[in-house]
Amino acid sequence: MKVVILGASGLLGTKLMDILSVEHEVIGTYLNTPSKGLQILDVTNKQKVEEFLRRESPDVVINTVALTSSVACERKPSLAKKLNYETAKNVSRVCQKLDAYLVFTSSSYVFDGKGGSYKENERPHPINQYGETKVMAEKEVLNLQKGLILRIDAIYGYNGKKKNNGILNNIFSNKQIFLGSPNQVRQPLLIDDLAGIIISLVKKKQKGIFNIAGPDKLPMLNFIKKLEKLIRKESKISILGEKNLLVKPLKNSTLDISKINKLGIKTHSLKDGLNIVKQQLISS
Ligand SMILES: NC(=O)c1ccc[n+]([C@@H]2O[C@H](COP(=O)([O-])OP(=O)(O)OC[C@H]3O[C@@H](n4cnc5c(N)ncnc54)[C@H](OP(=O)(O)O)[C@@H]3O)[C@@H](O)[C@H]2O)c1
Repeated sequence: MKVVILGASGLLGTKLMDILSVEHEVIGTYLNTPSKGLQILDVTNKQKVEEFLRRESPDVVINTVALTSSVACERKPSLAKKLNYETAKNVSRVCQKLDAYLVFTSSSYVFDGKGGSYKENERPHPINQYGETKVMAEKEVLNLQKGLILRIDAIYGYNGKKKNNGILNNIFSNKQIFLGSPNQVRQPLLIDDLAGIIISLVKKKQKGIFNIAGPDKLPMLNFIKKLEKLIRKESKISILGEKNLLVKPLKNSTLDISKINKLGIKTHSLKDGLNIVKQQLISS
């Protein structure tokens, strides 16, 4: 298959690029973080996106482009709308014209976090800009004949570089981690799992919404401590307290993954996933 990864310089995009390139023809794009083999593309430029996708004519487009920080989205709502929604709309329309599969990475933040273990068919109820813009983008992808929406809660992993590794960046540079909501219940997904899941869903000709997460649910503080242990001996976490936060954290942003499990898709446990990352760090 020919696959285009929009945002191939990010945490998830870099890993998708590495894994999918083994068996598929893969073209990746970046904007501010150049990397060998990637092509520059500003996904907010509708015309450039159309020209690029027409030229490459892929079977599958994976759109990971986003403003992922919920705080940045709240501070800059028009940028959040542009990066999270308008780009998704542009890409959706071109994929429809080209009859390409579109895979869109969404988030459990489409919910309010009051319940947790959300199923795919539950009505979204976002409580911040990040979630709002993801819901708007999902509606565009849901209109497509070949549109896949992957709802993810939290991702972790090592992309082989010391840049764009999400929370691991702070740990690599031995910085303090500031946590607004240590008790928020999360459901981490090893980034390595996603490449195989995407190919499997595309080959099964699936469309619509799929929750993709690991099997374990745990408080954010415990999750971050486990990540720290991979790299540094001393924990450096400061708890901010919720009243000082610009974005109200979701209490429980976990997802029900029975739909993918019924399709025979399994994700790594946090214990196994952390061991995989540990081995990758040792051999890098
Ligand atoms: N991180 C999480 O825990 C998490 C949880 C749930 C869902 N998700 C979703 O998963 C996806 C990937 O997340 P991530 O953590 O891998 O994100 P990331 O590391 O922040 O990567 C974002 C990517 O978007 C690219 N980008 C930003 N603006 C662009 C523009 N105008 N044109 C083209 N490319 C642009 C960046 O390229 P440059 O760096 O080259 O500018 C980068 O490759 C996102 O859709 C996110 O919402 C993430």
